[in-house]
Amino acid sequence: PTPDQWRRVDAYLTETLIGHDPALEGAVADQNAAGLPAIEVAPVNGKFLHLLARISGARRVLEIGTLGAYSTIWMARGIPDDGRVVTIEAEPRIAEIARANLDRAGVGHKVDIRLGRGADVLPTLEGQEPFDLVFIDADKESNTVYLDWAARLGRSGTVVVVDNTVRGGEVANPATENPQIIGVQRGLEMLGRDPRFDATALQTLDLKGWDGVALAVVT
Ligand code: DHB
Ligand code: MG
Repeated sequence: PTPDQWRRVDAYLTETLIGHDPALEGAVADQNAAGLPAIEVAPVNGKFLHLLARISGARRVLEIGTLGAYSTIWMARGIPDDGRVVTIEAEPRIAEIARANLDRAGVGHKVDIRLGRGADVLPTLEGQEPFDLVFIDADKESNTVYLDWAARLGRSGTVVVVDNTVRGGEVANPATENPQIIGVQRGLEMLGRDPRFDATALQTLDLKGWDGVALAVVT
């Protein structure tokens, strides 16, 4: 399909199944106005995360990579009122935008934003109740580190989602020298080989282009 065709289909699916949503659209608008990159998940993908939270009965969600909290809002809406999303953001300025977006969406009371690099923050989460759903969407070079923490901070049955697993087809380029793509490849290889996970991945075509999402369960 051409970009025109798949964008039309994505617009149709979004309009038919999701419609307009002022809190989510406001989050994207404020994120863009602050000059942050427009790399939040597509609406159909956000709703997918929301449905995964509901289908799995998640009460505790871990997100690595907050940005403007677009996906955070979707997942927070999918857990009970006394549930928690712990979301990790490295940049204080970005965390402030995320906080405002979460509060405006009415889910601020369900979300803890933890400031810092994933590799520094994740060890501080040990000893808590396990997470039921983990969404990995940060620096791709660290995907294997984040997957390791997802297994350690989860339990048997924890759902793990990794964003950006196809990257315009580059994931299947064995000669790539792009460290982000290599990070994605290492993460997928880990999901295929590490006995702590049972996994698959799906290609996606939406307004963000040709990409994909990996889905795993902790064994
Ligand atoms: C990039 C990162 C993302 O998490 C994403 O969803 C899209 C793009 C990036 O770094 O380019
Ligand atoms: Mg992403």
